[in-house]
Amino acid sequence: MRSHRPLTEALYRDSCALMPAGVNSPVRSFQGMGLTPLMISHGKGDTIYDVDGHSYIDFCQSWGALILGHAPEHVVVKAFEQLAKGSSFGIATPYEKELAERIAHHMPSMERLRFVSSGTEAMMTAIRLSRGFTGKSVIVKFNGHYHGHSDSLLIKAGSGVSHLQEASSKGVPQELIRLTVSLPFNATQLCRDFIRSRDDLAAILLEPITGNIGVVAAKLEFLQMLREESSKKGIVLIFDEVITGFRVGLNGAQGNYRIQPDLTCLGKVIGGGFPAAVFGGKKEIMDLIAPLGPVYQAGTLSGNPLAMCAGCQVLKTIEAAGFFESLNARLDAFLAPIRNLVAQKKLPIAIQSAGSMFTFFFGVEKVENKEDLLQMDEEGFKRFFRYLFERGVYLSPSAYEAHFISSAHTDENLRKTQDLILEYIEQL
Ligand SMILES: Cc1ncc(COP(=O)(O)O)c(C=O)c1O
Repeated sequence: MRSHRPLTEALYRDSCALMPAGVNSPVRSFQGMGLTPLMISHGKGDTIYDVDGHSYIDFCQSWGALILGHAPEHVVVKAFEQLAKGSSFGIATPYEKELAERIAHHMPSMERLRFVSSGTEAMMTAIRLSRGFTGKSVIVKFNGHYHGHSDSLLIKAGSGVSHLQEASSKGVPQELIRLTVSLPFNATQLCRDFIRSRDDLAAILLEPITGNIGVVAAKLEFLQMLREESSKKGIVLIFDEVITGFRVGLNGAQGNYRIQPDLTCLGKVIGGGFPAAVFGGKKEIMDLIAPLGPVYQAGTLSGNPLAMCAGCQVLKTIEAAGFFESLNARLDAFLAPIRNLVAQKKLPIAIQSAGSMFTFFFGVEKVENKEDLLQMDEEGFKRFFRYLFERGVYLSPSAYEAHFISSAHTDENLRKTQDLILEYIEQL
């Protein structure tokens, strides 16, 4: 029984005496799920193993970072080779150039790039750069979108702070709250009117397909409006593709929508499971970065050779013809009978997906923005999560998150999970 996890319990108790809630990122605490968190010993392919020896089919995949599953052989081999040569120099290495080249090839809007270590850093710097470029201060984001935990972006943010209103954290100064405007996502007319009414906007930033209120795709007309209005006003349009980059397709959400932002931030997949992220975009904006220009940014571990090496191996793999078609089709096939059963039983469960990411929204029929989640049945998700967890299936432990499949998910494990979900829905 997965409820019997004595080693986990002991480790968690000791960890709590050392680290707040025993974890190093809030959602890992499983507080929302009412369970002792997982303590993982190792993972392989689509499966993770806890310290008590239980296995779980993993649909979180390090919050979307692992598109090839856990410990893919060829990535491990290459990363070991690099590790043996040195793990960090604080000096440029060839893998940085190779990864930059691969990314820029698939996302031509990224004419110049700079690597950092986390999505938070990438977004934080993209904003500084936008302010430096425009000389303006106010930024526009959208309710429920999460862009990491820098002060200016913890305003009506998603992910682990989805349930908090206004400033999503204590400690964010009023002065910064005033400089961030958060609007309803996909509300085309309202947002157009707002943008037209202001002359102090430095940047508009968004997840073009959200992961942090669950999977919600932007309407094409909404993105087109943002592109048009920001161009007219010289506002920097930033796509936060930390999740969607190299996840919804080889060219990211921007490729799928055929809309080029001025700046893009990527993370997760590009680090191959190591800490790496990148921001990049128009040359004229990027060249303002130090040492070429006056906007400062730096990082001891930026462009870390292990992360760059792993990222290159992952990108090489997903560049293979048919990779995304196959992965995305497998998710569609996994979800199809579940969607059918939900429709047949007329249950209020919205199942939304994009590429290989998906969300079950309990208690709602359709989600276009955070406002549609007011009636969400969080308890319904919690019961669903716990049912699957107890049977060896691990979803992202929050009603407001995306779940992911990787190319390592086996047909057998997808079928097993599908059967469990159908069985659960059948008895609702
Ligand atoms: C869309 C998006 N942007 C930014 C971030 C922040 O990235 P990191 O956790 O690497 O700081 C996240 C994290 O999940 C994210 O989902």
